[in-house]
Amino acid sequence: MACFFRRRIAEKLGRTLQQSEDVFIPALTAIPVLKKQQSADFRLAVGPLRSCGILPSTGDIQLQTEHLAAQLKQDGVVEDVSAASGMIHFKVNRTLLAEKILEPFKDGDGDNFGLDSELLNCFPRGTTLVEYSSPNIAKKFHAGHLRSTIIGNFIANLKESLGNKVIRMNYLGDWGMQFGLLGAGFGQFGCAEKLKQNPLQHLFEVYVRVNKEAEHNEDVDRAARDFFRQLEQHESEAVSLWRRFREITVNEYRRVYERLGVGFDVYCGESFHQRGAHEVVQQLQSRGLLKTSEKGTGVVDLSPQGDMSSVSTLLRSDGTSLYITRDIAAAIDRKEKYHFDEMIYVTDKSQEKHFHQLFQILLTMGHSWVKRCRHVPFGLVRGMKTRTGEVVFLEDVLDEARARMLHNMSQTNTTKEMEHPADTAEKVGMSALLVQDFKGPLLSDYKFDWDRMLQAQGDTGVFLQYTHARLCSLIRRSEGVEGATFDPSLLPEQTGVFILQHLLRYDEILCHSAQDLQPRHLVNFSLKLCHLVASAHRELPVKGSPQNVAQARLRLFAAARSVLAHAMRILGISPVDRM
Ligand code: ARG
Repeated sequence: MACFFRRRIAEKLGRTLQQSEDVFIPALTAIPVLKKQQSADFRLAVGPLRSCGILPSTGDIQLQTEHLAAQLKQDGVVEDVSAASGMIHFKVNRTLLAEKILEPFKDGDGDNFGLDSELLNCFPRGTTLVEYSSPNIAKKFHAGHLRSTIIGNFIANLKESLGNKVIRMNYLGDWGMQFGLLGAGFGQFGCAEKLKQNPLQHLFEVYVRVNKEAEHNEDVDRAARDFFRQLEQHESEAVSLWRRFREITVNEYRRVYERLGVGFDVYCGESFHQRGAHEVVQQLQSRGLLKTSEKGTGVVDLSPQGDMSSVSTLLRSDGTSLYITRDIAAAIDRKEKYHFDEMIYVTDKSQEKHFHQLFQILLTMGHSWVKRCRHVPFGLVRGMKTRTGEVVFLEDVLDEARARMLHNMSQTNTTKEMEHPADTAEKVGMSALLVQDFKGPLLSDYKFDWDRMLQAQGDTGVFLQYTHARLCSLIRRSEGVEGATFDPSLLPEQTGVFILQHLLRYDEILCHSAQDLQPRHLVNFSLKLCHLVASAHRELPVKGSPQNVAQARLRLFAAARSVLAHAMRILGISPVDRM
């Protein structure tokens, strides 16, 4: 594996430069396969060795690189050492490369491949709380909620694979004036039957209607305020209606999340933290940190000069709490309940300031653990529409993805033999949706495009699934070929070497992902792997090759399938076996 080679090269460097080998481990990187050009396997930049004093920082860097390369003799593992513009390149023995990379796939899936790398040791393995999705009851589930759902799920999967204990949390918008309106309007516009049949849709309809009504009808507006006040005062009738709305909504979401392959350990929400919010206010008051503004609101001064030039409002003039007040209480409560070592919030970038202020206030209150809280922001999605129009519910997007994919699949032959085409279409459609979303930096906005994302060729989630299914089919068809013996010297072709070199990078990719929590590293790694596999399919036939060659090739394909499936699962895609 990558570690074996990195360690050997580091030892060599350590001996030559009389340093501890450990300093070279993170500095050695596997060389990416580019445009199918042959290359060495690892490289080391000489510049950083000069800046940290391992090499003299004066003199011509190219000469120094060449000199160092000449000092590093080849051996049984490292076959060639060369200098190239400020870099030392290391080429390892080809047979050993195949042997070490493919060893973990001997019997089984090599599940730990890449994860047992020493590069990942620098990440603490504690409890991670990831809060994501967090839609608002009776309101639209917009593209931002979809993004939060899939990004949060990816982060939770990643942390879990890295060995962390993960708590997946959904923080529902289950409090606020919308319940006043719903409560006031349900008697007039609500229908128990519709609520049963299509709860999300019906609650949304009632909410939209009563909202409109309240705009010009003061009685409705008053009734809504009244209802919300009853709720805040825990009057039992109001609370029981609220509870019913919340319960059916959660049940409905659970079902839809399941289709997406997403789950939560905890469903909580803003409603849980009203009392806590008032305690927070009291605490800040007693410590003199809560000021009263001219408007009569309660604010915390966040300006560095202490001149109130930047404040955060925690209390309305009527004494009710706000979104941020509940968030402060929620964070403290989570720390006490779950003892997390880190907490990650996933929302769109419009809430960056909110989380910045939240963290600042928690720090002011003396909660130093907030330094291990992080907001992962993402950009906007433009044009997410279905055939019937604007998206209001998550399920509309899932249905559309499945229908479109089913249509595309029906144009090919294999679908006819499939047992559960709708199921496969759903998984492939999800994959398409995710890859479109995950390909670029999360902070970038992007335009939603059904046709482009569902293309079978090109860098799409369909292509990932197609490649995985094709590898599965190859493995199925070669049953009986896989034997006990495996001769790594039978994979000398460059096409195969490219795949091995690419697999060599997997631990670095996981490492980058763990650092910045961006899914694009894994997406691009997987897409590249699929392109390399496509060439190998053409050039390295299993069928018709001598038994021992067929065995070696099959092992290579099995490893590629396994790593591809592993990467897909972290991204939140369930790989299909046929399509
Ligand atoms: N419900 C909020 C919204 O739809 C997102 C909640 C984000 N999480 C939080 N702890 N504030 O905008």
